[in-house]
Amino acid sequence: MSDTLTPVLTANWGTDKSWTLKAYRAAGGYAAVGKALKQTPAEVTGIVKDSGLRGRGGAGFPTGMKWSFVPQDNPNPKYLVVNADESEPGTCKDIPLLLASPHTLIEGMIISAYAINCHTAFVYIRGEVLHVHRRMQQAVAEAYAAGLLGADILGSGYDLDIIVHAGAGAYICGEETALLDSLEGMRGQPRLRPPFPAVAGLYASPTVINNVESIASVPAIINNGAAWFAGMGTEKSNGMTIYSLSGHVARPGQIEAPMGITLRQLLELTGGVREGHKLKFWTPGGSSTPILTAEHLDVPLDYEGMAGAGTMLGTKALQIFDETTSVVRTTLRWNEFYKHESCGKCTPCREGTWWLVQLLRDFEAGRAVEGDIEKLLDMCDNIGGRSFCALADGAVACVTSAVRYFRSEFEAGYTTPAWELFPYERSALFPVRTKQLVTSGEGADA
Ligand SMILES: Cc1cc2nc3c(=O)[nH]c(=O)nc-3n(C[C@H](O)[C@H](O)[C@H](O)COP(=O)(O)O)c2cc1C
Ligand code: SF4
Repeated sequence: MSDTLTPVLTANWGTDKSWTLKAYRAAGGYAAVGKALKQTPAEVTGIVKDSGLRGRGGAGFPTGMKWSFVPQDNPNPKYLVVNADESEPGTCKDIPLLLASPHTLIEGMIISAYAINCHTAFVYIRGEVLHVHRRMQQAVAEAYAAGLLGADILGSGYDLDIIVHAGAGAYICGEETALLDSLEGMRGQPRLRPPFPAVAGLYASPTVINNVESIASVPAIINNGAAWFAGMGTEKSNGMTIYSLSGHVARPGQIEAPMGITLRQLLELTGGVREGHKLKFWTPGGSSTPILTAEHLDVPLDYEGMAGAGTMLGTKALQIFDETTSVVRTTLRWNEFYKHESCGKCTPCREGTWWLVQLLRDFEAGRAVEGDIEKLLDMCDNIGGRSFCALADGAVACVTSAVRYFRSEFEAGYTTPAWELFPYERSALFPVRTKQLVTSGEGADA
């Protein structure tokens, strides 16, 4: 692995008014567009392919390969859609990127759209982050005014319009096909595949959907070359990436480092677990990825390392929990989220996440009975892999991994409430106001 920290996407975040076109240009911004537009779309796609860039939205699919799936002989328009829905618990990288440097994304979009012969591109932003939506709109307006968007960009003959669209605050709308339904004005629910979006996506036309960070990585690749990018990270997980660190840590935030850095290294760089406490468990990539423990501190944070440890790199959202945290309560909280966000399209997820919450509440309240752990795992078995989309797999991943590493804590749920074993006040990062907070809104949806 190369250097410990590799600020590229985050390099200009600290500069004065970094979100403005003036500041972005002063830092060398928009040079890559000029370079890319002098090459053919196929050459640009080739550079991104050779760089080894893999999608930063969770699944790690090779970006250049995705672009090459767009059938250029299809007479319909080609679309680029940037997924800025970022709603996975713990994930906090795309929104900060858009807030600090929206022009990095716009520059990446111009190059990526050019590579797939697209003339209309969309940014689908999580609706709750109104300030980011406004900042993005402002940046797009600045780019139009400077001739970087619209007709004949930089005199190249290439035209591109960007539309910034705000979602209405549903986690499922981050799933790429639900996002497309939502963008078309329908209720956001996942679509059956095939056809895949690259063939028939938005308005049944060829569509590339990529995460914010994936597209924002493109200008640096064009500027510095595929070999530069591929030289960072590990053999199959190339480049730098943004890890978001949260929870019981001394200094939470975003850290840009090469793929394959370890959590131990990241904690050393950021002051470690909060003072006087020790690591109990953590997520490598948000709440949808199976949890890990202190024994995994030295596993490389790349796709292969995480798969080897029985989990996934996901969104690289490192949520850190110390010994004051009840794993039962945490699993319940996450499942309350999944139950709430289940779109209801398929039965195993719609019904199953509801039942998971009921049973996890029994464990939290110390009123579970012998056999309930088996029942919990049986439910997971009937939900994961048997539902329509990956939301359901995410819901069960935390439960099965929590039982794998902390079975005795679930067994304690046969006799003792989690709030007695792990008083909420000890794990809370903010002052606790009422007893209600401790009991997870029990009966709220009975
Ligand atoms: C429930 C659910 C929510 C998702 N939310 C997001 C999201 O907010 N942002 C994102 O980029 N990808 C999200 N994804 C993954 C997308 O479906 C898709 O894989 C990704 O946008 C592709 O971009 P990439 O290849 O650049 O990673 C989500 C997937 C699921 C199943
Ligand atoms: S798994 Fe859940 S979120 Fe996905 S389609 Fe089925 S009900 Fe909807």
